[in-house]
Amino acid sequence: MTDTPPAIDTSKPHSARMYDYYLGGKNHFAADREAAEKALAAVPTGRTGARENRAFLGRAVRYLAAEAGIGQFLDIGTGLPTSNPVHEVAQSIAPSARVVYADNDLLVLAHARALLTSSPQGRTAYIHADLREPEAILSDPVTREVLDFSQPVALMLVSVLHFVPDEFKPAQIVATLLGALPSGSYLVASHVTAEHQRAGAGAAERSYRGAGVPAQLRDSDEFAELAFSGLELVPPGVVLVSEWRPDRAGPRPAPAEVNGYGAVARKP
Ligand SMILES: C[S@@+](CC[C@H](N)C(=O)[O-])C[C@H]1O[C@@H](n2cnc3c(N)ncnc32)[C@H](O)[C@@H]1O
Repeated sequence: MTDTPPAIDTSKPHSARMYDYYLGGKNHFAADREAAEKALAAVPTGRTGARENRAFLGRAVRYLAAEAGIGQFLDIGTGLPTSNPVHEVAQSIAPSARVVYADNDLLVLAHARALLTSSPQGRTAYIHADLREPEAILSDPVTREVLDFSQPVALMLVSVLHFVPDEFKPAQIVATLLGALPSGSYLVASHVTAEHQRAGAGAAERSYRGAGVPAQLRDSDEFAELAFSGLELVPPGVVLVSEWRPDRAGPRPAPAEVNGYGAVARKP
């Protein structure tokens, strides 16, 4: 990285840049790489998990745009620009789709214009915001201008809830966000788990925390309760992200390589 926006503290790792490193991107600094390598030493298949999660996100957006008729997306914990951003997938199916992206990493902000290449019929916008302050996201004038809250919206919390430990009351955050959306809206969420690799994933969680990145892994039942209580799960329900409506036949990675659950659910 050469272009470092001045406000970014490159001495501390950030989850967005670590994820970018796993995915083979170029937007990370030495501290991110060091922390990511520590996590990979504990869970050597971490890159497989990241790729499977990203592919899940694409399939979920495609399902929502093509099969559920959703044309509005609020994607919190966007990540650095990489393949298949939400607006590209959605607008390839529904060109008028509207997307608001939100992330709390300044480097994502610095790259946000790459997320804003909307189709002429649709809209994309980016806000620098923290999931732990859901009211600010909902009341942001950009959110209000781009999304019509009288129509269904897909809330995307993909691979971000594990960065909200219980002390930040994540269930309340999810309830506040879903509470603002009308019936017929959807939630897409995924979450890293230690269920299939207690020792390794536990060590990876500790390496995130040790590096100053808040993190809490959850088992599938904890994740299901946190994210999807009161919603109607779209089949196949809460499954490994690699098992959510796979678009290819053939062998898929083992649970201990994926280490992440995901689901899509509808607000009744
Ligand atoms: C693992 S990446 C996931 C990116 C994308 N959603 C995906 O699944 O491919 C997690 C993202 O969540 C963001 N993030 C972490 N904690 C956050 C918070 N409290 N508020 C907003 N964004 C957050 C990070 O900056 C990062 O971009």
